[in-house]
Formats: sequence, C-alpha cells, structure tokens
Amino acid sequence: MTAAAAERVFLPIEDEMRAVEAEFDRQASSNLQVVNYLGEFLRASGGKRLRPALLILASKAAGGGERESVIRMATVMEMLHTATLVHDDIIDNAETRRNMPSMNAQFGNQTAVLMGDWLYMSAFETSLQERSLRILDILTKLTRKMTEGELIQLTQIGKLDISEDNYFEILKRKTAYLFAACCEVGAILANANEETVNAMRQFGLELGIAFQMSDDLLDLTSQTETLGKAAGSDLLEGKLTLPLIRLLKSDTAMLPVLERIMLDGNYDAMPRVELIARLESDGVLDSVHGIALEHSSQAIKSLAVLPVSEYRSCLEDVLAFATERKK
Ligand code: IPE
Ligand code: IPE
Ligand code: MG
Ligand code: MG
Repeated sequence: MTAAAAERVFLPIEDEMRAVEAEFDRQASSNLQVVNYLGEFLRASGGKRLRPALLILASKAAGGGERESVIRMATVMEMLHTATLVHDDIIDNAETRRNMPSMNAQFGNQTAVLMGDWLYMSAFETSLQERSLRILDILTKLTRKMTEGELIQLTQIGKLDISEDNYFEILKRKTAYLFAACCEVGAILANANEETVNAMRQFGLELGIAFQMSDDLLDLTSQTETLGKAAGSDLLEGKLTLPLIRLLKSDTAMLPVLERIMLDGNYDAMPRVELIARLESDGVLDSVHGIALEHSSQAIKSLAVLPVSEYRSCLEDVLAFATERKK
C-alpha cells in the first residue's frame, strides 16, 4: 500500500485499529507459554490488516456499531485470516510470509497445523462473546467455504486445462467470501437494514475477487522483496491462475513450457522475465487487470445504498488499492 493510500484508509480509523492490535494481543495470548510465544510470532509479523479495517469501515459507513463489538469482530476476522495463512503456507510449502520465515518454515509443519487450529478456535471463542447466532452462522459457513476453496484447489494442482469458471470458483471461496463477511458483519453490527447488509456483502465479495486477482497478478509479475512472500510461486506449485489460463488460450505453444516449469519446480524452461514479457505482449496482463477493474466497478455500485460519508470514501479507496496495489 502506498503511504498516501494507507493514510486515506487507515487514518480515520486509527484509534480503532490500535484497539484491534491490543485485542489481538489479548486473544492470541494464553496461559501456555508455547502458545503465547507462537501467538506473538504471528501477531508481530504484521500484515496489511485489511480485513479488520474493512469491518470497521463498513460498520461506520452503515451508521456505526457498538465500539466493543466492532473491535472484537474486527479482531476475529484478522485471527481467522491469520489461521488461513498459517495453514495455506503449509499447503503451499511457503518459506516466507510478511518478509519473515513462515510459521511452518520456522517451527515445522506439526506446530503450524496446531497453531492454525488454535487460532481458528480462539477466533470462534471470541466471536461467541457476541451471542449472535446470525454472526456465528456467517463465520462457520465462511470457514467451511475457505477450506473447500483450498481443497478444490488441491484437486486442480498441475492441471493445464482449468476453466475461468473454475478459477473464479476457487478464488471466491478462498478469499472473497472472507472480505464479504467482513463487510456484512460490519453492517450487521451497525444494525443496518437488510438491503444495506446485502449490499455490503456484495461489495466485499467483488472487492475480494479484485483483491485476489491482483494477488495472482503480483505473484507473476512482482518480486519477493516487494511482496514479502515468494514471487512466481503459484506456477511452481502447479497452480494455474487467470493470466496463465488466458495466455494458454491465446498461445497454445506455451502449453509444454508451462508444463515443464510446473514439473521442474523452477523457471529454467523459460525465465520469469521472459514469461512476464510474453504475458505483456499478448495483452494478458491488461485484460486480467481489466477484469479486476470490472469487479471493482461492480463493488462501487453497491456503495450507493450508503449515505455519503468519510467512511464510504475510505471503502472506495480500499477498492482502488485492491486493483492498483504493488504488494
Ligand atoms: C494474503 O492476504 C492472502 C490472500 C488472500 C491473497 P493479504 O495480502 O491481505 O496478506 P497480509 O495480511 O497483508 O499479509
Ligand atoms: C490465498 O491464496 C490463500 C488464502 C486465502 C489463505 P494464495 O495461496 O495465493 O495466498 P498467498 O499468495 O500465499 O498469500
Ligand atoms: Mg499461498
Ligand atoms: Mg498468492
């Protein structure tokens, strides 16, 4: 996030975001020393904190909710997100996350599995304090969908004939539903009417789609130092994302090349810079970015139900960030 964009999004909720950090610290600590230590490792690793920010902004833009509940649920969303990252890094064999060793790289898979579980359960325990079956229903369905997303993705590893529908199905589950839930729960905490709650959910869904599409583009085009996690890794892991699905459609000669890269687990068959140049010259990067922008315009439409406010503009800024971000 550029400094200016971050300031626009986070400054108006600076106080709440500080409270989220304190709450996360409280929730990720335990009487058990080992859990404490691991919880601190995860919490202190940072991250953009986009999901709690979204929940807070959504609740404020929809009229505002009780502060304690908003902070608590914003923290729950970051805990759920952290749990999925911990498990995702085991699944993807990722060594780096947020410019640090991933939990699995630092402490091993066994520890990371258990710490992911612990975080999931702590998130649910914390959310129970809300005494809201409606919110619990959203969170349990969401967590199941995210797990399904990762499971479906596993069945597609190494496949070169993935359809665009298939790609979007996975993407929605593993990423966009969490964004949708952040916005929906934010609106619910503000006691918003059904129309607003639905619009906020829809906003989050479209935003989440644009966000993961950018993540997939950045994986291909950016650098490890910028991303804080290994660049170029999706293809090496056998994951075909939209840019490559489109490249294969326009240039079937790339099929054996991509297959080679997947099988070898390195870019010897075609250096990544060359692959990026090919994606550029075939217009694939522009076309995929264009689709992300379409989802972003869809999302903007949903904001129309909200009264004009500083917080509504922040939600628009998050959207611009999702499609233009560099990390
Ligand atoms: C990473 O999410 C996982 C995806 C859904 C792409 P973020 O890019 O929000 O990760 P952090 O929390 O900022 O590290
Ligand atoms: C997002 O997919 C995974 C989750 C939602 C946990 P990725 O596998 O692309 O996420 P990164 O790139 O590792 O952050
Ligand atoms: Mg991953
Ligand atoms: Mg990724």
